[in-house]
Amino acid sequence: MKHIVFFTLLFTTNMACAQHEHHGHGHDANQHMNQRPFEELVAHFEDPARDEWQKPEAVITQLGDLKGKTVMDIGSGTGYFSFRMAKAGARVICADVDERFLEYITQKVNDSETWAKNKIETRKVPFDSPALKSREVDMVLIVDTYHHIEDRATYFKSVRKGLKPGGKLVVIDFFKEEAPVGPPVKMKMSEEMVTTELQKAGFEHVNIDVETLPYQYIITVW
Ligand SMILES: C[S@@+](CC[C@H](N)C(=O)[O-])C[C@H]1O[C@@H](n2cnc3c(N)ncnc32)[C@H](O)[C@@H]1O
Repeated sequence: MKHIVFFTLLFTTNMACAQHEHHGHGHDANQHMNQRPFEELVAHFEDPARDEWQKPEAVITQLGDLKGKTVMDIGSGTGYFSFRMAKAGARVICADVDERFLEYITQKVNDSETWAKNKIETRKVPFDSPALKSREVDMVLIVDTYHHIEDRATYFKSVRKGLKPGGKLVVIDFFKEEAPVGPPVKMKMSEEMVTTELQKAGFEHVNIDVETLPYQYIITVW
């Protein structure tokens, strides 16, 4: 039986941690991703074999009750998680810098049964802002996209402002180690670095789940 370990850390405001700025990191990540033609990226993100290690049902369970919640999926790509969250009852804002992915999602919504039509909207966002209104959403999910973002301290301060009171941010990304999936190790970010940065952005509480997924951590902050 799978054993789930949660580390709960209460960060103190005077916890001094060196800030690791990665200027150019997000740019490199986007360049790396876009070496592949768009159709290939779509096939890659939607590959049914991904389900084996991405375990979308387990992730959706981890997110808690989504009924009636508003969630922004930052870096939504093809909407791999957006559609599943909508199916679980959330209203989902798919946010991406790349118009092609948003068009792909709109097409999929139009082709879908009516359930997706009222539950999924798309939002083209700039590279440096989630373009969230104040207290707009209950949750922000960001999967395999954290390392695409630059000046993350500023960016995630805006994410925090966009959350309703009691809202949370969930970051899923790859362990910084060799794995059969994910970007090159140099582009991956450790869970320690992510939590340190999110603390700098003002999030005080952190859960780090390193057990549910084989190649990725699930970090929840609020
Ligand atoms: C590796 S894909 C992940 C897609 C999706 N989250 C998934 O799990 O299948 C990264 C996505 O982030 C988008 N992206 C890159 N930089 C971004 C930024 N600064 N803000 C929002 N989206 C961004 C890319 O266009 C791409 O769709």
